[in-house]
Formats: sequence, C-alpha cells, structure tokens
Amino acid sequence: PIQKVFKRCMSTQFSAYTKNFEIIYNPESSLYSYLLQSTIQNPRWLNATTQPLLIVAPFHEAEVQAAVLCSKKYDLQVRVRSGGHDYEGLSFLCPTPYIIIDLINMRSIDINVEEETGWVQSGATLGELYYAIAKKSQVHGFPGGVCPTIGIGGHLSGGGFGTLLRKYGLAADNVLDAYLIDVNGRILDRKAMGEELFWAIRGGGGASFGIILSWKIRLVRVPKIITGFTVSKTLDSGVTKLVHRWQEIAPYLPEDLFIRIITVGDGFNKAVQVSFNSLFLGEIDTLIRLMNKSFPELGLKAEDCIEMSWVASTAYFAGFPNGSLLEVLLDKKQLFKSNFKAKSDFVTEPIPINGLEGIWERFVEEETAIMIMDPFGGKMNEISESETPFPHRKGSLYNIQYLKKWEKNGVRESNRHVHWMRSLYKYMGPYVSKSPRAAYVNYRDLDLGTNNHDNTNYLQSTSWGIKYFKGNFKRLAQLKSKVDPENFFRSEQSIPHYK
Ligand code: FDA
Repeated sequence: PIQKVFKRCMSTQFSAYTKNFEIIYNPESSLYSYLLQSTIQNPRWLNATTQPLLIVAPFHEAEVQAAVLCSKKYDLQVRVRSGGHDYEGLSFLCPTPYIIIDLINMRSIDINVEEETGWVQSGATLGELYYAIAKKSQVHGFPGGVCPTIGIGGHLSGGGFGTLLRKYGLAADNVLDAYLIDVNGRILDRKAMGEELFWAIRGGGGASFGIILSWKIRLVRVPKIITGFTVSKTLDSGVTKLVHRWQEIAPYLPEDLFIRIITVGDGFNKAVQVSFNSLFLGEIDTLIRLMNKSFPELGLKAEDCIEMSWVASTAYFAGFPNGSLLEVLLDKKQLFKSNFKAKSDFVTEPIPINGLEGIWERFVEEETAIMIMDPFGGKMNEISESETPFPHRKGSLYNIQYLKKWEKNGVRESNRHVHWMRSLYKYMGPYVSKSPRAAYVNYRDLDLGTNNHDNTNYLQSTSWGIKYFKGNFKRLAQLKSKVDPENFFRSEQSIPHYK
C-alpha cells in the first residue's frame, strides 16, 4: 500500500532528517481523524468523499522537504494546510490521491522589537502573532485579519487585511523576506528565490508556487491607547441614509480611522441589524472631535467608545467581551466554525439608496446572513496595482464579504443556502466593480470558476484569475510556468501555466 511505501521513502531516502514517525498519520492511526478535522473552519466539507492517504505534520523543514520529494516520486498530490480556514476546503480536500502537509507543528514566532521585525512560521495563527508582539511591545502591531485562528500561511499568501488596512495596507505588504520550499525540495529565502517569486507569494494565493515555511514581517507602530466602538442600528432608525453616507466618507477619512459595517439578517424578527464597528488609532476625545466633523450623522458619543491597547482591540474585534484575558487569542478552538458559503465584491461607486434597500429586503428574510463592508482608501491608495499580486487598490472604495451560515449539514440544506447566496450575488451585479467584477482570493469562491484537474488551461482560468488578480494574473501564470513546469503544486484555483 502507498502509505507503507511513502513512509519508507520518508525514512530511508531522507533518513538523515526523518527519524520521527510520529509526524505521519494514516487512516488507521488514532489521531488521523482528530488531526484531519482539528482546524477545519467550514465543516460543510467534513462529509467529503475524498480523504488524504496520509497526513504529514512535520516539526522540521527537512521533513517538509522529504514529504514534497516523496509525493513527487509516487505521483501523489499535496495539499498544504496552515490554519485550515480556506472557504472551499482547498487545504484539505482533493479529487485525486493526495497527502496533507499540515504545518500545525510549525508555529514558532520570534519578535525583534529593536529591528521592528519578526519571523513567524506559517502554522502559527494570527492570534498567536498578535499575542507574541504584545508580549514584547505595547506600541507595535501587525496589519492582519480579525479572526485570531486564521493561519499565517494561507492569510499572507492571499493578502490579508483587517483594522489597520487603511494605515498600513495588507499583511502581505508588510512581508520583508520568506523561506519557501520549491518543487525540487530546495529551501529558498528571498535572495535565493528572486524578486519575481517573492512578489508572487505575497498575495498570489496559497498553494501555487511552493510551501512557505516562514515569513519575516515588518512590525507597525500603534499608539499605547487606541479606541474602539460599535454602534448598532435597525432599519427603522434611518440606517439606509447612514450607510449611504458612510460610503461617501469612510474611504476618505484620515487613515487612523477605520469604520466598517457589519449587517446581520434577523429573519425570525423580520429585522436587519447594521453595526458600525470601528478602530481609531488615538484616544476618545480626538475621535469624537473627528467624528463630529467628518461623520456627525452617526451621532457618536464618548460613552459608545472604549479605550484599550491595540492587542486588546484584536480580541474585541474577534468578538470577545471587552476586558477578556489576552490568552483568548491563543485559543485553538475556532471561534466562527460553521457551515457557510461566502462571496466577495469590491465597490467603486457608492451603492444608491434603492440598491441598499434591495439588500435589506433580502436580509430581512434570513436568519444567518451576514455582510461585512471594509473601507479601503488611505495607504491602499498609495500602493500600485502591480506592487503585489493583490490589485484592489486605488479606486476600490470598499470590499464586501457576503456570508451565509447554517447549522444542519445536509445536501438540501446546503443547496438552499448556496442558492440564496448566489441570488444575492446576482442582485449585487449592477452595484459593484465591473470588467472585471473583482473578488478577494482569501475569500475563496469556486463559483467563479475552477481549473481542469489534469489539463489546466490559462484562458479558462481567467474566469476566476482576472477577478482575483486583474492584470497580475498573466504575470503569475508566466512565473508559474517557469518555477513549477510540471504543475506539481495545483488545486482547483492554483495559478495555471501561461500557454
Ligand atoms: P488554509 O490552511 O486553509 O490555507 C488556505 C490556502 O493557502 C490553501 O490553498 C492552502 O493550501 C494554502 N496554504 C496554506 N498554507 C500554506 C503555506 N504555508 N504555503 C503555501 N500555501 C499555503 N481574511 C482577511 O483578509 N481578513 C479577515 O479578517 C479574515 N477573516 C476571516 C474569518 C474567518 C472566520 C475565516 C474562516 C476566514 C477569514 N479570512 C479573513 C480569510 C482568510 O484570510 C483565508 O481563508 C486564509 O487563506 C486562511 O489561511 P489559513 O492558513 O488559515 O488557511
């Protein structure tokens, strides 16, 4: 059986490195199921018919090298998993025989405050990173996403943004170096991989160019005290006008101020709740003065606001009650684990009042529909579309993420919710970016199109590739042809060869 052969390959051909069998789990191992399911964020995929032949959970770089080379030798596909948050399960599902290389044991973090940098391994989570920074400094942070259980590996590979986006750009904009294992099992740093490959791994989406082991990041400066607020409104309080106004203001505010909107459908009460959820890099008095000048319509009062440290704000934005112990950031249990389907859009012109009303009409019927609008502008306007593969810069007013969750994991149930999501997406067409209708690769959506499994066709892949990467897609594909000529690192939405 291939499991035996693979283990032998790992132990004999790479005996210098791989003495430790505890890193290889086959379906008979008692820990196999636990490990397989442990970081899956969207259990919708748990009943999938495909399961990995083996899960390899290395502790050392050399074990990752060996796993890549043995997979190549026995023609097995590899799925790499860091935090397991992929929306479509691409880090642990595959239609042909495969192994998972799970980086769960590679999560060390080393922060250098004097240099204002850090090295972080791909298997660490954002929460662990934020916590580690705060242990060393109260005036540094990192501009990553808001969910603490997200893995560094997938997040930085696709861009990564959160509350510091308007001030410091994406997580990927703040990567200075990286170690990658390429298709030949070589370990390459920035200098060895070259600037083109280093460009591609900072936003070109995971799993196309190699396995990134670790990243050197730039720490960013934050004040000792910052301010957060959440102001919630219902439809009867004139919220439509307020959201309309927000679109005209939020992308142009000073970059210290980030105000996003979270809309939640409450089908049970036929209601919609719209929350203005904000982080300000300063104290309450300055924020109130700024809001009175720039967005008086919201009527923000000092008592709506909470002063806290930056690291406390990462727990606050993740939904933990204010004052929670910072150790909540280290909790491995996924906060938002549920069956879901998501999609994304970028908005370049404010959505008119009647367009917003149409959204509420759809949300008022649904229990578990969520829409998150994250304002861009600020630093994002200063970075060119081709600086990294993530092209959604100047001109994107805000990003929308639509999410539909459900509890019972049945086919009929799933189909109903997915259908609802697709019809919302269709409705939104006239109001969002066009040619292409852009999407965010970290909010992966296989509805946009997929590769043929064995015969990836560039033109066919442009259906989704241009949406994620615009003009950068061709450059990514040209590079892919060079660095992975046999298309070893492939998936339903990996970068295809340019041909
Ligand atoms: P996972 O391990 O599933 O990997 C994702 C993809 O990257 C897969 O294709 C995988 O093979 C590949 N990959 C993983 N590790 C790799 C490595 N070391 N080398 C090469 N390829 C690798 N995003 C955001 O920008 N801001 C946000 O606030 C949020 N919030 C959020 C909340 C919740 C609840 C979820 C589920 C997701 C988000 N996201 C997000 C999206 C998130 O950034 C995205 O899903 C990331 O790709 C997740 O990275 P993981 O490592 O966890 O995923």
